[in-house]
Amino acid sequence: MSSNLKNREIKLMKVIKNFNQNWRFIPELVAENYPDHAFESITLPHTNKLFTQLFVDNQAYQFVSTYRKHFTIEEDTTHKRVFVDFDGVMLKTTAYLNGQLLGIHAGGFTPFSFELTDYLQHGENTLTLYVDATENPEIPPYGALVDFLTFGGVYRDVYLRIVEPCYIQHVFVRPCDVLTTPTVECDVQLSEWQPGLTLQATLKDADGNIVAQQTFDVPADQLTVSLTDLAPVQLWTLEQPTLYHLHIDLSSDDQFSVRFGFRTAEFAQDGSFYLNGEPLKLIGQNRHQTYPYIGAAAPKRLQQVDAEIIKYELGCNIVRTSHYAQSPHFLDRCDEIGLLVFEEIVGWQHIGDEAWQALVMQDLQAMIEHDRNHPSIILWGVRVNESPDDNNFYTQTNALAHQLDATRQTGGVRNFAESHQLEDVFTLNDFTEIIQPPRPPHLITEFGGHMFPTKTWDHEARRIEHALKHARKHNLQLGHPDVAGAISWCAFDYATHKEFGSGDRICYHGVMDIHRLPKMAAYFYRSQKSPEDEVVLYAATNWTMGDRDGGGNNPLTIFSNCEVIEVLFDGELQGIYHPNRDEYPHLKHPPFTIKWQEPYNPWGTRMDDLEVRGYIKGECVAEQKITTDHLPHSLRMFTHTTELDAGGSDMARVAVQVVDRYGNVLPYQSQIIEWSLEGDAQFIGENPQVLLGGQGACFIKACHTAGEVIVHAKSAYLPPVSVKLTIR
Ligand code: GAL
Repeated sequence: MSSNLKNREIKLMKVIKNFNQNWRFIPELVAENYPDHAFESITLPHTNKLFTQLFVDNQAYQFVSTYRKHFTIEEDTTHKRVFVDFDGVMLKTTAYLNGQLLGIHAGGFTPFSFELTDYLQHGENTLTLYVDATENPEIPPYGALVDFLTFGGVYRDVYLRIVEPCYIQHVFVRPCDVLTTPTVECDVQLSEWQPGLTLQATLKDADGNIVAQQTFDVPADQLTVSLTDLAPVQLWTLEQPTLYHLHIDLSSDDQFSVRFGFRTAEFAQDGSFYLNGEPLKLIGQNRHQTYPYIGAAAPKRLQQVDAEIIKYELGCNIVRTSHYAQSPHFLDRCDEIGLLVFEEIVGWQHIGDEAWQALVMQDLQAMIEHDRNHPSIILWGVRVNESPDDNNFYTQTNALAHQLDATRQTGGVRNFAESHQLEDVFTLNDFTEIIQPPRPPHLITEFGGHMFPTKTWDHEARRIEHALKHARKHNLQLGHPDVAGAISWCAFDYATHKEFGSGDRICYHGVMDIHRLPKMAAYFYRSQKSPEDEVVLYAATNWTMGDRDGGGNNPLTIFSNCEVIEVLFDGELQGIYHPNRDEYPHLKHPPFTIKWQEPYNPWGTRMDDLEVRGYIKGECVAEQKITTDHLPHSLRMFTHTTELDAGGSDMARVAVQVVDRYGNVLPYQSQIIEWSLEGDAQFIGENPQVLLGGQGACFIKACHTAGEVIVHAKSAYLPPVSVKLTIR
């Protein structure tokens, strides 16, 4: 078995089939005998509606749609049980098989299943889903206002699962004594018990080598097995996130494979967070699962890319899944690349009645049962984000979390410091520019956000201040021994309800825009990376005389992880500068703050090209030039992947920026881009598209055939650009 074969794919070889293909969709509620030809053919994940980038109207997705799938099961299902598993459907699902009601599921963020067994027919079957995306006050997060959109549809993957009646329902792998003599304990929950059952547990390393193997008797439908005497194991670390697989073979002919890692994670009373016994300050981002155009219906690749952006482009070590459980693909990628996760239950400020709370409990249980094998997850959020105290409710959520997973601590995100704390970690949204008196272990779970919304096309002073607010808060938290870390609000701009946002239904709270393209603040985060990973040198300026109040460029801020910076005007050395340790003593790589003694280029005199050079150990390792003509020189087009998988789901984001002759983005270039495509793929986006902040993007979705696709973009003033994607 190949080393990086994933959990799901292993199961898929045995008993699970991807069920994303060949669905029919109609954006209304229709009878079961409504003709097929009236439906649109679709592949999952699917959004019930496509949107423009701005002005997303939440009324537009609130309707019931019908999803239909005809299918035949090739396998012999006699004496088997058959399920359909949903990773997430927004927001309420009523399912029928061949006209028989299978069940109703309320809740959009956690996985659920319906059993098909009793109603399966030989030959063709018809599965019908009525998916109601109404913002139903009885279903969390609704009941009050919510500052994000939920969208609608079968927006995550679906699987068909065929199992023996005696099958494995849940497996929870618990590495023990990780830092001394590692062993593995594993809880196994069966659907039913049969006499004479045995179970073989095989632990394999990332290369597929067997590390331990043992067979056990199965005395009941619930058991815990242990594997000891392991060959030395490698820890799961942020730098080297080594993963292992535990394969469980049940003699009733069922198998289950779980991917996990050996690591310890603890928020300690001394205020620090410890990963594998080493203190680690947490620097993170909140993430909403919102995308332009497609709402929340982002396929595997886009989910993976988000994790990669947060880890590699923003240099962060933790993400909070605000304010709900997120895609399995996102969490899988966090495991693979070494990005810690604080995963949180659904909700926003409001607590509903008993029935509503029961849905939160259901959501919490599903979240932990599905996600507790992820080594990246270090904390469960068991309080509705920023809700009032409710000791009765939160005693229950804490107890359930501890019962389902005694290995992880709980947090409960609140926005008032005096609240009752029932959780293990005090998790506080702290929008002040100080640190609220810590209650260790204490984690700052939000700052920034609505306190300073910033657009990519805002004036320079605002964009710089936005970045510096992030720099200041991290400087504070890094210098505070009682604070374990701080997670910014937030990674990416997101669509919201009319009661929030900037009047165009967007919260411009991201350090990147909704396309995941950087604002200046993104460069602050990036500059905190080790130069061994990436040398970063970014002058936070458009180098103009008349954009700031009062004019000029004083001071000039540069985000960099270089040791020393030279600044040149028109090729002439102006000065040599060091990181601003006076103001930012606790940052690993403080910004450079360059204050001119004499005002540089007094108003109306002259303007020279700017050049900055970064040095490490005396060697020039980076340089940036900014031209003063500010003329758009070219379009820059890029994509995070040049290969897509055929099958109707996979997507690439293709981005375009207007740049000057040195490659700097020109934020006030709102050019109109016309996109075109050659080859068999679907364009998703606005066409023509007005670039905002000098940048924009579309999605290219693979169809069902392999081949080449070329994406072109042109504007009236600049040479056209293109990228080639290969569809495999
Ligand atoms: C917080 C809330 C977030 C978001 C943020 C905006 O209070 O938890 O979901 O609304 O404010 O800054």
